[in-house]
Amino acid sequence: MLTLKKQAAELVADKARAAFPDCGLTAEAVFDMLEFPPDPAMGDIALPCFKLAKTLRQAPPRIATLLCDINPAPAFDSVEAVGGYLNFRINYASFAARLCGEIAAQGDTYGSPHCGEGKTVVLDYSSPNVAKPFHVGHLGTTVIGHSLRLLHEFAGYHCIGINHLGDWGTQFGKLICAYRKWGSRKEVEQREIEALVELYVRFHQEAEADPTLDDEARAEFKKLEQGDEENLKLWKWFIEISLREYQKTYKQLGITFDSYNGESFYTDKMPRQVELLRQKGLLKLDDGASVVDLSEWNMPPCLILKRDGSTLYPTRDIAAAVYRAEQYHFDKCIYVTSAGQSLHFAQWFKVVELMGYPWYDRLVHVPYGTVSINGEKLSTRSGNVVLLKDLFRAAIDKVREISREKNEDAECREEIAEAVGVGAIVFYYLSNNRMRDINLVLEDALSFDGNTGPYAQYTYARTCSILAKAGQTIPAYTETDAPHPAEAALVRALSAFPERVKAALDEYEPSYITRFILDLCAAFNRFYHECAILTCEDSRVRDSRVALTSAVNTVLGRALTLICLKKTEKI
Ligand code: ARG
Repeated sequence: MLTLKKQAAELVADKARAAFPDCGLTAEAVFDMLEFPPDPAMGDIALPCFKLAKTLRQAPPRIATLLCDINPAPAFDSVEAVGGYLNFRINYASFAARLCGEIAAQGDTYGSPHCGEGKTVVLDYSSPNVAKPFHVGHLGTTVIGHSLRLLHEFAGYHCIGINHLGDWGTQFGKLICAYRKWGSRKEVEQREIEALVELYVRFHQEAEADPTLDDEARAEFKKLEQGDEENLKLWKWFIEISLREYQKTYKQLGITFDSYNGESFYTDKMPRQVELLRQKGLLKLDDGASVVDLSEWNMPPCLILKRDGSTLYPTRDIAAAVYRAEQYHFDKCIYVTSAGQSLHFAQWFKVVELMGYPWYDRLVHVPYGTVSINGEKLSTRSGNVVLLKDLFRAAIDKVREISREKNEDAECREEIAEAVGVGAIVFYYLSNNRMRDINLVLEDALSFDGNTGPYAQYTYARTCSILAKAGQTIPAYTETDAPHPAEAALVRALSAFPERVKAALDEYEPSYITRFILDLCAAFNRFYHECAILTCEDSRVRDSRVALTSAVNTVLGRALTLICLKKTEKI
């Protein structure tokens, strides 16, 4: 579709320059004005002429009439002036043949904008706080982050995925303190992460009644920082347990990381940055703490050192960014966290700029909204948490139940139940613009009838089964006179893929892909119901429709894997 847009832009620009010799209108400028009307009745590509009214000093309907007088062949069937719009109609027979040919030739790389070749991007995502539960709140950073990674890889970037584990800080003091008071080795060995989370929650409950517990926790953390052996041993043990737990969830999602360097990794890398801040005269004392004043940029001060000299979250992020710049020479470093951390990132990004690091403008924060489940807000401290693994488990069980209802004999294989159950949650989550607050309703996510993951995977499986019946070699799409309207609509939906990929990358917004998948599935299912494919009597038409089904299979499969879903050949 993009090449067609380019051709339409060239036609318009040539015509405009002929009719208005001084207008200086370029094809690039027209390209940006062209739109894809949501309703194909208004044409496939449209130019809203009011955008030209200023340059050409004419009323939009008049401009449309003047520009309309062009020869649209061979790419377009017709050009029409309707009100203030110039509407192009695509010649679908030739376009479909070209598109299917391109997709068959490029396969899995079709749609890549190839903008990342030779470039490196670091992605910091998931990054749970060790020993706290890995809960539904982490779904966003984990799946948005991984999907952005896959999109960047698709565009040719060399990607480094980093799990910046929250493996340092006072929460370890709390956990050590709680373990010593109420925990037992046996209990933690048996129930691993669950036992740790209980201890953590209990600490917060008891500390509300007895605030001296917080002092004890701080003291335990101080001991840890000073290298106390007993505390270090416990700390390592808690991390091992947590990592083992996270791996199970990452495996279900097909996620791997290139580095698990968490916050503790930067302990010895912070003094150099603090020293630099001091040398540059950026540090100010504020009630005993060292901060960078950001009032000029309307932000509260960025905290670098606490009164007792210990470091903070921003200090570790600054040291980590410097390390990554030196280690990976990134072209971009992306951080995916909840929108609640937006100020934190804005602050330390500014500090890095003030420190004079030339790569400060390559840091990107990608925020997202909150999640509730069945209308309930979640909070770790109050113990009202839904663990990600429990949510996935519930989804997988439900899928098995549904498939048993649908078909009593077929035992749904674990692998498929997992792909569909986990995929349903991911798809539901990524259906929305990332900044929206989401309420996850399991029933809705798992429905096979709605705009859901199971529906998309089912549609993919449908294309596989048609192709399996069609035989070994996929025929080419041959131009037939006039494709069926459902076929034209499918070609139109299919051809939007490169644009959606580009938009998803430009705006760090995987939901463009999810919505593309839904559009494509709707168009394919309409085509499937309205057009005979394998049973079509005209063998040329049948071949073309098989070729189109194969193109849908390639692109739909690619799109699904870009948002962390598995391609399910059978459901
Ligand atoms: N551990 C943090 C949290 O759970 C997220 C870390 C994000 N990455 C970073 N470099 N700050 O809130």
